Amino acid sequence: MTIELTARAAHVAGIRERAQAEMERLGVNAAFIDLLVETFYGRIRAHEHLGPVFEHRLAGRWPDHLAKMKSFWSSVAFKTGTYGGKPVQAHLGVEGVYEGLFAEWLTLFRATLDDIAPSEEAAQWFMATAERIARSLVLAMFYNPALDDPANRRLTLTQ
Ligand code: HEM
Repeated sequence: MTIELTARAAHVAGIRERAQAEMERLGVNAAFIDLLVETFYGRIRAHEHLGPVFEHRLAGRWPDHLAKMKSFWSSVAFKTGTYGGKPVQAHLGVEGVYEGLFAEWLTLFRATLDDIAPSEEAAQWFMATAERIARSLVLAMFYNPALDDPANRRLTLTQ
C-alpha cells in the first residue's frame, strides 16, 4: 500500500515536472496566465455579444471569476491540480448562451493570444486546449442524442 502510494506520488510529480518544463519552453509562466485572464476577460466584457451574457451572471462577482479562471488555467498548464471546480455544471446555469457564441469566444481568445502570447507555440497550446474544452462544453450543453437517432432522421427527411 505504502509502496503503491509512493509510486503514485512519484508518477504525479513526474507529470507535473514535465508539464512545467514544457510551459517554460513555450515561455508560459504564472505572470502570463494572470495577464491572459485579465486581458481576455477585459475584452469579453467589452464584446457586443459575449459581454452581456457574462455580465448578467457575474455582476458583482468578477474578482472571484478572474481568480477562478487563473486557478483553472494554471491547473491545466502546470498540472498543479489546484482547480477543483465543475465547468459543465457552471455553464449549464448561464442564461442566454447559444452554440454560436462559443465560436465567438474562441475567436476572441485567439485574437488575445495573437496579441500577448509569449510564442506562437504557446498560442497554439492554449488554443488547442480551449477548443477541446469548448467542444466538450458544447456537447454537454446542446447535444441532443435524439437527433442522431436514424428513426428520427428518417422522420425529418420524409416530412
Ligand atoms: C460562449 C462561451 C462561454 C460563456 C458564455 C461562458 C460563460 C461563463 C460564465 C458566465 C461563468 C461563471 C459561472 C458562475 O460562476 O456562475 C463561466 C465559468 C467558467 N468558464 Fe466559461 N463560458 C464560455 C466558454 C468557456 C470555455 C471555452 C472555457 C474553457 C476553455 C470556459 C471555462 C470556464 C471555467 C473553468 C469556469 C469556472 C467554472 C467553475 O468552477 O465555477 N468557459 N463561464
